[in-house]
Formats: sequence, C-alpha cells, structure tokens
Amino acid sequence: MKTCAKSNRWFPVAAHGQSLFRSGFLPVLVWFLMVVGFDRSVTAADPASPRKGLVATVNPVATEAGLQALRDGGNAVDAAIACALTLGVVDGHNSGLGGGCFMTVRLADGRLITLDGREMAPAAATRDMFVREGKADPRLSQDGALSVGIPGEFATLAYASTNYGRLPLGRLLEAAARVAEKGFRLDRHYVGRLKETRSQLALFPESEAIFLKGLPSVPSAGDRLRQSDLARSYRQMAQGGVAWFYQGDFARRTAEWMKAHGGVVSASDFARYEVVPREPVRGTYRGYEIVSFPPPSSGGVHVVEILNILERFDLAAMGDDSAEFAHVVVEAMKLAFADRARWLGDPDFARVPRGLVSKEYAAELAQRIRLDRASVVAAAGTPPEADREWFTRERNRHTTHFSTADTEGNWVACTASLNTSFGSKVVVPGTGILLNNHMDDFSAQPGVPNYFGLVGAEANAIEARKRPLSSMSPTLVLRDGQPILSVGAAGGPTIISQTLLAILRVIDFKKSPREALAAPRLHHQWKPDELHVERSWGEAVIAELRRRGHTVAVDASLGAAQAVGRDAQGRWSAAADPRGEGAAGVW
Ligand code: GLY
Repeated sequence: MKTCAKSNRWFPVAAHGQSLFRSGFLPVLVWFLMVVGFDRSVTAADPASPRKGLVATVNPVATEAGLQALRDGGNAVDAAIACALTLGVVDGHNSGLGGGCFMTVRLADGRLITLDGREMAPAAATRDMFVREGKADPRLSQDGALSVGIPGEFATLAYASTNYGRLPLGRLLEAAARVAEKGFRLDRHYVGRLKETRSQLALFPESEAIFLKGLPSVPSAGDRLRQSDLARSYRQMAQGGVAWFYQGDFARRTAEWMKAHGGVVSASDFARYEVVPREPVRGTYRGYEIVSFPPPSSGGVHVVEILNILERFDLAAMGDDSAEFAHVVVEAMKLAFADRARWLGDPDFARVPRGLVSKEYAAELAQRIRLDRASVVAAAGTPPEADREWFTRERNRHTTHFSTADTEGNWVACTASLNTSFGSKVVVPGTGILLNNHMDDFSAQPGVPNYFGLVGAEANAIEARKRPLSSMSPTLVLRDGQPILSVGAAGGPTIISQTLLAILRVIDFKKSPREALAAPRLHHQWKPDELHVERSWGEAVIAELRRRGHTVAVDASLGAAQAVGRDAQGRWSAAADPRGEGAAGVW
C-alpha cells in the first residue's frame, strides 16, 4: 500500500482502488480530479507495490498522461513518451517538440541506453555568428531566429517508441492533442513565466496570438490555455510520423520563416537531424552503480566526477544538514565546474577526456580540498564579466525532468528542454510549435558567460552541426544490477547539483526520494565564485559557510527535481519536487 505525503485525495485512490479501477469508476474520478480540481500539494507517492508503475513530473496532467499509458498496457518508456508529449502542451515554456531531450533507459532485460536528442547547430552556423562589433550579443543567441538549434525531441521519442515502447506513438500523440485542444489550467509557474517573457513573446505575432492574446491581458493561475494549432500538429505527427516533422511540412514551414527573419536553419538541416544512441557514463559510488548521460551533456560526467571526489569523505558522519557537509560538497563542485568550462563539449567535435570520471583523478582532486576553508580554484579563462542575473529565483527552473518505472524492470530518466522560458519565443506559423534557443548553450566567445553564467572554451565553440553543451543529467542508480533510483532536474547548471544532492541523500543518508528532494540544496559552478544556498539550510549553517570563506547568496528555492525509487526492502516511491506544483503517481 502507498501513503501520500501531503494529500489524501489522489494517492489513496491508487492505493485502495484495485477493484474500483477495474470497474472503471476510479480512473474517471482521478482524471476529473486532475483536470478539474486536482490538489496541487500532492507531490509524492509511496506505494509498497504498484500494479504497473510510477510516474513523477512537474505537472499533474502530464503525470496522469504517463499513468494512463501504463493503464493502457504501456511500459515505462511509453509512460515517459506520454509525459514528454503532454509536458509540451501543459508546460510548454520549459520543453516541447521544438526542443531537445536526453533519455536514459534501463530495460527489463538489463540493457542500459542513453538517447541523445540534443539540438544540432544548423549547417550554416559559424563560430562568431553571435558576435557584433567584437562582442557576443546575448539577444541574438537567446531570442529569435539565430538562437534556434535543430530540435531533437520528437525524433528521440519516436526512436524510443519504435525500439522500446509497446503502445503506438500515434495513440500517445492523440491523447496529448486532446489536452491541447480542450485546454488546461495555468499553474502559478506558467503565469510567472508568461509575465517574465511577455515583452519578448510580443515580438513574434504567432507567439503573441497564442500566449498573450489567447489569455486574459493579466493572466492568473487557473486561466485556461487552448492550443488548437499545436493539437493539429500533434495529429499530423500521428499521421505522418517523423517524416512530417523532419522532411515534410514542419521542416518546410520552419525554413520559410527562418529565411524571412534572418535565420540560417534550412529544411536540409531538419532532414539531416540524427538521434544518437550513446554509451552511458558509468561510475560507482559506495558500491552503487551510477548510469548517467554522456557528453554533449556535462551532467553525467560531473555527477560521477563529484561523487568520486566525495567518496573519499565520510559524509554520513557529517549529517546532510551540516556546514561540514555543505562545505565539502561545494568544494568538489567548484573543481568539477572548472573542468566543465575547460574540457566539455560535443564529443563528436571535441576531445572530452574519459579520465574526468576516473577514481585516480578524483583522488588527486580530493587532496586539494581543505575542510576548514574555501579554496581558490585557479583556471584559465576567467570571464571578463559575470552575468549576476543568471541565478535569480525566476531563472532557476528552466527545462523539465520526469522519471518513470514499471514493475517489469524498465526505468526511464528523461530531461527535456527548450532552454530558457519559451525558448527562442518563436512559434512556427500555423503549427503551435515553439522553437528552442539552445544555441545559447554554446560558448559564443571564449570566457563570455551564457544566460546561466556558464563560461566555456574551444570544446564548446559553435560549429556547423555540433551539439551545444548541456547540464541535463537524467541518471539511474543501480544496486546489484537492479535500479533503485531514477532522478534528474531542471535549472541550467544547477541540474548537476540537484541530481548529485539527491543521490547523496539517498545513498549516504538513506532518505526516500521524497525526503531527498525536500532537503536543502546548494550550488556552485566555479564562475562566478558564488555559492548559492537555499534559505532552508538555516542561519547557523550559512554563517559557518561564510566564516569558511565562501561568498554566499541565499535563495528562497533552487531548482526542480523529480525521482522514482525502490528501497532495499523493495518498497517503491515516486516524488515530484515539493518546491513546484508537480505530481507523482502510481498505478
Ligand atoms: N537547457 C539547459 C541545458 O541543457 O543545460
């Protein structure tokens, strides 16, 4: 049986409702609660034994779509695809088919798969395409035609569906199309993002018509957004498959818009897009196996690198709410993020050393950590100017992560993104599909920070058909070959920190996924030299960190992670980040 952390409205339905589910009454009731009056405080589900599987996303409607896929006979891969397609409707400022994703999968037969659906730079992209009068212009890499990379999410979902799913992709597309057509109620995050990006959205008539004119002039939580063009596109994809998107109508319309608006994306860029199945990054941590996403994500490399460093410290003895714990984690983060700036990029173009995840290298790095004071991590390429705005509260949850698992042994961790809120802000006319602005994740110039304040070097310079470096870290943790955790997060570079902390909380401190996600977070990315901590660490810990020499900035909340897990006793659980309005569910 499962319990519910904060609500007795939804999960007890799944907990007690097997016979009622068979009668068909409760699925209808659950759907009604989701759409009409779902209790948004529901963030976790802890069933002892689900009938089929578990789902955690940032949005209750998307979670329900994943659960419905399980009810319909799908597996965890189908559930993840249903979540992704629905998130593109109800959480479309974060992710969607105009963006990219990384998917880490463990199949019931033990195979481990990482699918790279990252955007690719157009063939006409050039190293200095964002440089004007000698300086990188962030407006060009963050909004409008030049900011767009060739989207990979749909190709990845289709690949996963064909190779590992059980349900027809068209059926999952149709379910998401119905949500787009009927509309959904905005949550307060959506409203916040709309307010934040209003003036940029207004620059693009199609985006303005959908997201501004389609809603009251001052939108508020509960307002209904309908997206009829998007619904039609989903149905066209259900009919025409990836060909419609990559070789057909969508590619053609996008190329036409780009040509008329100074972009360089062409129809042949779409035709040449490739999903790349890559070799996962694998590591070990205190006897557990870590399986995460390889370059062009920096996420897996640095989660493993930091875990390797921290393995040399007795974290459990420190307590996960102590200044000692926070200090040593931050010191390890600084070392890893310095490496990120130097070494990481698309491995098809840059030489990313495998030694970054070796235990020997971690031992060397660990020796540089002093327990009594913050170290100075020296490295080349200090940015001439740090964008101090990158870490405001409103900017820390871009992207979306969702986790699914089923009782057959299939587990998925998937992180999807348009990059910043509403991506490029461009909707391709007549399609309802928003395009990403992931070109901003390249280093526009060496040492010049991007939107997230990240600096990079040659390895992440812009080149034709290259994939921009990411921090997305969809990660699985296994013990004795069996998965025990699927986790990942949203929020630019803080994704790495959040994923790392969740793993530490589960392994070192024996917390459930729900407890792990609720615990205080911190983040340091080497440049700028600033430690971000959530206020919930408490004044004493924050004062002690300052005393040790850290420059501390205090945030109300940091990031959004989702997880599903199974503990040593075989008990399952799923958790959506309590900082957000997501939902975890079981069936
Ligand atoms: N969109 C954020 C990332 O890929 O890291």
